Amino acid sequence: MAEQRGHWSGQIGFILAAAGSAVGLGNLWKFPYITYENHGGGFVLVYLLAVLLVGLPIMTAEILLGRRSQLSPVGAFRKLAAGHRGARWWPAVGFLGVSAGFIILSYYSIVAGWTLRYIQLAVTGKLGALASDPAAMQEFFGHRYLADGWQQVGGHFLFMLLTVGSVFFGVKEGIERVARVLMPLLFLILLALAGYAATTSGFGEAMGFLFRPDFSHLTGRAVLEALGQAFFSLSLGMGAMLTYGSYMNRTSSIPKAALEVSIMDTAVGLLAAVIMFSIIFTFRMPVSASAGILFTTLPTVFYQLPGGGLITAAFYLLVAFAALTSTISLMEVVSSYAIDELGWARRKATVVMGLAIFAFGCLSAVSLGANKALSNLNVFGKESAVGLFSTLDFLSANWLLPVGGLLIALFTGWILPRRDTQDELEAGHGRLGRIYTGWRVLIRFVAPLAVGAIIASIIFLGMEYQ
Ligand code: PHE
Repeated sequence: MAEQRGHWSGQIGFILAAAGSAVGLGNLWKFPYITYENHGGGFVLVYLLAVLLVGLPIMTAEILLGRRSQLSPVGAFRKLAAGHRGARWWPAVGFLGVSAGFIILSYYSIVAGWTLRYIQLAVTGKLGALASDPAAMQEFFGHRYLADGWQQVGGHFLFMLLTVGSVFFGVKEGIERVARVLMPLLFLILLALAGYAATTSGFGEAMGFLFRPDFSHLTGRAVLEALGQAFFSLSLGMGAMLTYGSYMNRTSSIPKAALEVSIMDTAVGLLAAVIMFSIIFTFRMPVSASAGILFTTLPTVFYQLPGGGLITAAFYLLVAFAALTSTISLMEVVSSYAIDELGWARRKATVVMGLAIFAFGCLSAVSLGANKALSNLNVFGKESAVGLFSTLDFLSANWLLPVGGLLIALFTGWILPRRDTQDELEAGHGRLGRIYTGWRVLIRFVAPLAVGAIIASIIFLGMEYQ
């Protein structure tokens, strides 16, 4: 039986849920780390440009496609492409997105599970003992915790349970309700930590590092990395924003929502970087690349501060909240596919798909445990030392999202008639005038060319941009 399609309670409901999707491990973990790798200032400026010129227009396009069609990705493309060029093929873009959601969630939930374990360790005081010795911390994370397949499966299970448990109750009663509680808490914790960071002696240096543009280190590769990061961080290219847009009322403004979500997502990434670098510079800690920065360097540093246990617990709670509102959006893309396309009831869709994703993720969890050389673990890409886990991440972040984003931009810019996109963007907003023209130039030319350049450089230069 078809259920009534759920909707957000209003503009704020959408914004909190969409910001929840965007703000996640990508901001708190990956953004500070790749900013560090790319020497700060110049990179940050390029990242901001990527968000403004590519991320924002594509986010606007995704929400537009969802709200216009009132369907999840596959159905949305089928409905909107009807009667246009390539009508038969466009739904494949939606299916690509659903597959990306399935794959990303299967490993993202494992990393998210680590935060639960760290909260527990912080609260029980065990983390304090480990963190007093950087070598012991490293040993614990790389060789004991990650190598324990059962613990990996357990954390993954718990996080999937939280995710399914939220999506199960639907758009307003589940997703929005969780976001309404978690997002303000997340901002509070983040601001409190930022306030704390501002009192540390490394704060000034951190601000200079992040905001004084220095282009002497800026490489072509850094530009591509910035663009890729904008994609992942804003949850673009796989239909998450499209699906959330399909629950948006026609009285809400799409351009305004897209702008606000992009600003929040960017602000959280910047704040996280300010917090981490202030503390790291204060203690002159060597920055371990990749996963280590969040799960080995930071706890070591936190415990040197007065009240370290409390700060650590608050911090991992923050990361867990951010991750949960992101896994919820990944889950919703997959569930809404089963609801809209297979005709399943929501509860069946979330439980069955949740189990399938859990089972698939177990392969990654176990492949993590099977690999003993984990000290250079980089979950989001480069040193592909962890088998299935990093292969899946590499595949989804480097290929599925950019290709999906490119196709979404081409579809919205070149296939959908101008009057349709203008009508949808102005509904709930009022006349857009030049803003519409600007968006149209970005979505037809700037975004496809920029994303096309990333994909081409990966193919022709063999560049890993993540
Ligand atoms: N944007 C999320 C993050 O930064 C990850 C994500 C990607 C979520 C794609 C949904 C879709 O962590």
